[in-house]
This record gives sequence, C-alpha cells and structure tokens, in this order.
Amino acid sequence: MSQLLSNQDKMEKLVSLCRRRGFIFPSSEIYGGLSSCWDYGPLGVELKRNVKQAWWQAVVQKRDDMVGLDTSILMHPRVWEASGHLEGFSDPLVECKSCHLRWRADELKGDVCPSCSGELTEPKQFNLMFKTFMGPVEDEASVVYLRPETAQGIFVNFQNVVNTTRKKLPFGIAQIGKSFRNEITTGNFIFRSREFEQMEIEFFVKPGTDKQWFDYWLKERLDWYLELGIKKKNLRLRQHTKGELAHYARECYDIDYLFPMGWSELEGIANRGDFDLVQHAKASGKSLSYLDEESNEHIVPYIIEPSAGVDRSVLAFLCDAYDEEPDKDEIRVVLHLHPALAPYKVAVLPLSRKEPLTKVAEEIYADLRQCWMVGYDIAQSIGRRYRRQDEIGTPYCITIDFQSLEDKQATIRERDSMKQLRIPISELSNTLAAKLSGEAFEILPPGGSYWLGF
Ligand code: GAP
Repeated sequence: MSQLLSNQDKMEKLVSLCRRRGFIFPSSEIYGGLSSCWDYGPLGVELKRNVKQAWWQAVVQKRDDMVGLDTSILMHPRVWEASGHLEGFSDPLVECKSCHLRWRADELKGDVCPSCSGELTEPKQFNLMFKTFMGPVEDEASVVYLRPETAQGIFVNFQNVVNTTRKKLPFGIAQIGKSFRNEITTGNFIFRSREFEQMEIEFFVKPGTDKQWFDYWLKERLDWYLELGIKKKNLRLRQHTKGELAHYARECYDIDYLFPMGWSELEGIANRGDFDLVQHAKASGKSLSYLDEESNEHIVPYIIEPSAGVDRSVLAFLCDAYDEEPDKDEIRVVLHLHPALAPYKVAVLPLSRKEPLTKVAEEIYADLRQCWMVGYDIAQSIGRRYRRQDEIGTPYCITIDFQSLEDKQATIRERDSMKQLRIPISELSNTLAAKLSGEAFEILPPGGSYWLGF
C-alpha cells in the first residue's frame, strides 16, 4: 500500500471511481437521485455477483451441512409481531419544533437542532420497517412490511427444510436477498442505505453445543474475508456489551472493518438461542421442534447466526483493494481485487486497430468469453489501456502485437507486479485458468518465456 493516500480522501476517490467507471450510480440520478439508494452499473454488478458467489460457494456449495433458501420479501404481518420487530425495531427520534427536521436522539451531541438551533421535542420511538399495503384496499388490515432482515424467512421455513431435506443437527440454512430499513441516519456511500442486500446463515445446533459452534463461525467468517484478500490489520472482532445486545441475542460479536470513516460493522455473528423458533411456534401454533434420534426427544435447536451485508462487503473489498502507486511522473490507480472478485478476469488489447491484428484479438476475445468475463479495449495507447484495466481491478491483460501474427504468441501482463510473459496463443486459456486459481505468475506454460523487464 502506498503512502500517497490519506484515509480522508480515499472514500471520495472511491465514490468518484465507482461513478466514472460504472461500478455504482446514485439511484434515479436523472431525477436528482433518491437519498441513500444506489444502482450497480455494469462493473459493479459483476463485483457484487462475485462477492455473493464466493459466499455461496464457501457456505453452501462446499459444505454438506448447509442448504440454501430464497424466501419472499413480503411476509405475513404476524411474523414481525412474533419476531419482536413491530415492538422493538425502532430508533429514538426527536423533531425540531422550528424546521421540523428529525434526528436520532442517541446520536445528537447537544440538546438543540443541529441545523437551526431550534428547540427539540421529547424522543419518540420510530419503527424502521417500511410499510405498504397488500391488495387494492389501503386499510390497517392490509398492511404488510418489506422485510428488514432475511433471517425470518429462514425461521418460518425451518420445518419445511427439515421435512424435505432430512438434514440432521447441526445444519444450516443460507439465504441472500434484499432487506429494507427506513434508516434515519444513512450515508458513507453504500455503507448504510435503506435498501440493501444481506447474506445470512441460520445454523441450527443442539443446545449445549452452541458456544462451540459460535466460536467456530467467528473464525470461519473472519477467514472468509482474509482469504479473499482483506488485510488482517483492517479486520477486528468486537464483542457486544450487555447493553448493546439485540433482544434475541445471548452473545454477539461484530466483524468490524477499518473503513475510511473508522472501524464499523461488516458482519454480525449472534447466538440467538431458541428465541426465534420458540416465538414462531407460540405465535403460529405450529411445532418448530426437531426429533433427536439419539434421545428420541423433541428439542428446539439453538441458532448461531452469521449475518453479513453484501453492499458493506463490496465497499470493504473496494476500500481494501484501492491503491495509488507512484509511476514515473504520474500515479497508477490500482484495485488489487482478488481474482475471484474482479469484474473482468482478463482484458484483450490488440496493439493496433487494424486488420489482421484485430481479427486475431477478436477471436481470442470470443474464445475466452466462453469461460470468463473478459474486457476488450482498442482505444488509445497500450500504456493508457493498462492503466484503465488496473483501475477496475482486471488481474491480467493480453496484448496482441504484430509479432503475434508471425510467432502465434501473445503477451500476458499481471496487474499487481506489471510483469509480463510471452506465451503461445494456444496456451492462453490453460494459463489463465491456472493463474486465476492461484498459480505463481513466474511459472511458465509450455513454449512460454519471460518478457522484457521481468
Ligand atoms: N438478522 C440479523 C441482522 O439483520 P444486523 O446486524 O441488523 O443483523 C446484519 O444486520 C448485516 O446487514 C450488518 O452487519 C450489515 O452488514 C448489513 N446491514 C444492516 N443494515 C444495513 C444498512 N442499512 N445498509 C447496508 N447494510 C446493512
């Protein structure tokens, strides 16, 4: 990491890069934007999909004790009564008697309105759930809520999953999906918004083994971020104090990331005990227990919940990857994204816009696209094109030059070291596959050689 960049302007630069290169746009921008809502552009959607895929692979695909689920955003309103959200999912708000702006009482520094110094009302609880109406009549009976977390969709399907998969304890259910919270204080780009995506695991265990599984998931989830390239010094575990614990939690830790605005929550890991299954069984009148074959007794499992934010993870990966390096008289902006997360895995760059070079390049581009997301750039000098790919985190660039027409070889350049290899075009796919799965760049494929300045 270079010393050129201070934390203060890192966020500003990232927001500008995301906007300029098509990662993230303000929502409804042509109408002036919609506060704290964001649209993912062509590169952002790839990055976000890659984050979700890396999570799904780690927590579902590669394990035999996890299954997935995709539940609806609108749920029966009684779900939110039983879960405690109708009663307790609120922030204390005060209103200015002069300008009528509202503020979070627990975040205010003084006792007057920060905007106009007007007198403030007494705090009132403000529920964070978005309300809407189901069907054509807008009355109290048709009120439904946009879910504020995906977790409840998992709890209410516990019995369905047990019956259809015959999973034995301990096992988990994973879900990725949109959640909505009418947050009072938003900001810091995509860190806190009103519409966001969560990646949640509800891991069901026998009571008494919950502490051991809680510790297991703390380590597992921390390792996931480290394996995808987040620097250890930028991650920490923070235990919730008794006063901070949510109404359902027996124990909770946050995985915090050192964002440019300071240490902030990336993921929460909670021991929810049997709170949710007991509550939903009581409210619905349906049994949500599990027949333990060893003891032949019905038990209510305890739940360990690692709950991560997709958007916050995207922001953390971007912050951690962003760097500015001195480069002769200029500055090279690089996103050192892990190859699994990079929007494009490779870009094909023909040295000239003319035939027959472009024909060869287009054939390679078409061929590699069968396996990966691939960029193609023919505009301006090769140096500028490398910089453009560095800035969006493309791990490898392939250059086709006039010599390629003679020797049927191309140059492959690594983003981080900027080193280059000359390799047979016929070896490109295999070489890329090997490098993208972690092979050292120095290892040459058959017929390959080190290129200038290696
Ligand atoms: N089911 C438990 C639960 O929802 P949470 O700590 O409220 O717990 C989990 O949320 C994760 O969801 C957070 O760690 C964060 O990554 C993400 N998240 C929560 N509120 C968010 C918001 N307003 N904007 C973006 N991400 C949010």
